[in-house]
Amino acid sequence: MNILMVAAECVPFIKTGGLADVVGTLPKYLKQQGHDVRIIIPKYRLIDGAKYNLQALPYKLSVFVGKEQENFRIKTCMLDGNIPVYFIENLRYFNRLGVYGDDSGVGYGDNRERFIFFSKAAIEATKALMFRPDIIHCHDWHTGLIPAYLKTTNLNDGFFWNTSTVYTIHNIAFQGSYDAASTVPLAGFSWEDYKSDKLEFYNTFNYMKAGLAYTDIISTVSPTYAKEIQGPAGKGMEVVLQTRKNDVYGILNGIDYSYWNPKDDKNIVANFSADNYENKKLCKKYLQEKCGFKQDENAFMLGCVSRFDMQKGFDLIMDAIGKLTQFNIQIVILGSGDRYIKDGMLYLQSLYKDKVSVCTDYNEPLSHQIYAGADAFLMPSKFEPCGLSQIIALAYGTIPIVNKTGGLADTINDFSTYNTKGNGFVFDFYKGEKFIDCVLRAYDIYKNQFLWNEVMKNAFASEYSWKNSVQEYENMYNVAVNRKTAYNIYQKNI
Ligand code: ADP
Ligand code: GLC
Repeated sequence: MNILMVAAECVPFIKTGGLADVVGTLPKYLKQQGHDVRIIIPKYRLIDGAKYNLQALPYKLSVFVGKEQENFRIKTCMLDGNIPVYFIENLRYFNRLGVYGDDSGVGYGDNRERFIFFSKAAIEATKALMFRPDIIHCHDWHTGLIPAYLKTTNLNDGFFWNTSTVYTIHNIAFQGSYDAASTVPLAGFSWEDYKSDKLEFYNTFNYMKAGLAYTDIISTVSPTYAKEIQGPAGKGMEVVLQTRKNDVYGILNGIDYSYWNPKDDKNIVANFSADNYENKKLCKKYLQEKCGFKQDENAFMLGCVSRFDMQKGFDLIMDAIGKLTQFNIQIVILGSGDRYIKDGMLYLQSLYKDKVSVCTDYNEPLSHQIYAGADAFLMPSKFEPCGLSQIIALAYGTIPIVNKTGGLADTINDFSTYNTKGNGFVFDFYKGEKFIDCVLRAYDIYKNQFLWNEVMKNAFASEYSWKNSVQEYENMYNVAVNRKTAYNIYQKNI
């Protein structure tokens, strides 16, 4: 199959969260299955053209955003030596210091225009490149307009005769909902399209709804989240999802175990593995020193690496810190995003300096050091489509403490002292006391070396690799392709 991924982020070039990991990793596994996979992302200023040896292609292209003609170029390089990545370069929209917004966590005022532009440019770039996709796989609200264009403005475009679209929801909380009166003409849709109930959401123009309503197949990143969003967790999209329930797939993300591997991770002070994890103690010692904590082997060290977003349960974490620091518990937090969470966390650090350390940066090496050095990993998310951090933590023998929701429910099982099964600690109701009880339960087990070793063994043995999920993606793509073929045969015969 010819598969084109279109997204707003992709590792290693640009990342704000797990979306980038998925877009940069799944293609490698699809490629191994023999597919021709390519990726289109914006060329943000943050992407270092020299580092990745980006080459400009000789096309001068343009699209309209409202009445404005926007020129763009395509730059390219190879991911892993065999996956072409195309970068859409337009200085007005992408030559900025941030990805979605500035440092303070506030989104750019013209994100609406930026992703109209990007979606249209991705379609034009595909045609210029003469790459005829069987599947265009779109991710999150930023690319929701692509399936809509292919079924409206580009409906009779023969280039896409064999193309089906798959639209993956990584997070239904971000939908891209804008004033309809100005967005419909800006995006280039007709008022008939708008009134067709595929773009309109409570009198606004909604990018996520456009993707869900027009795409051939919908997927999301865990089976539990796929069910949850067809109910109250759907943030208004539940009705659209229910009407398309036969087209909704929930496929669990994997992680790249060649990258997240304590055995040869270059970012950590001492390597270790599931068979011999004595060196994990050195990683903990190093992290304690770095955080300015007492180098006490018995202290229970909790780590957290996360976007600063209320989705991630920071209200519970902030409320719990006063209580947890009464025990021999140390907490290290790495996060960036929401300004209020950042200020709150820094305030708590100032109150409990010897037990709480906060880094408000995006810092890849430090994230590895936390995954490797902490004993347990905090992820009490209010909702979690899949979550990669808990899976990464497992790979480093760091025990996730999670709320039972979405992908966390699909990947983490509560440890039981009766049968020593379970790879983490799970609480079942989003409430402060439940979270604190859960952490203290983990702390009790931690004090029993035998039991803690059992949890660690279970964690190391849990594998969520792309090897399984890639087959589910292939099956899903095949459904789309077969449907399209049948439809085209039918069209030819009438
Ligand atoms: P989400 O996509 O909702 O942010 P995931 O758990 O799917 O959550 O993925 C988060 C990814 O981003 C993980 O790879 C995590 O290590 C990384 N990450 C998040 N915040 C930071 C940060 N401040 N510094 C480094 N890596 C981070
Ligand atoms: C989103 C979700 C996260 C998921 C990631 C990759 O950012 O919040 O749960 O793991 O996308 O799919």
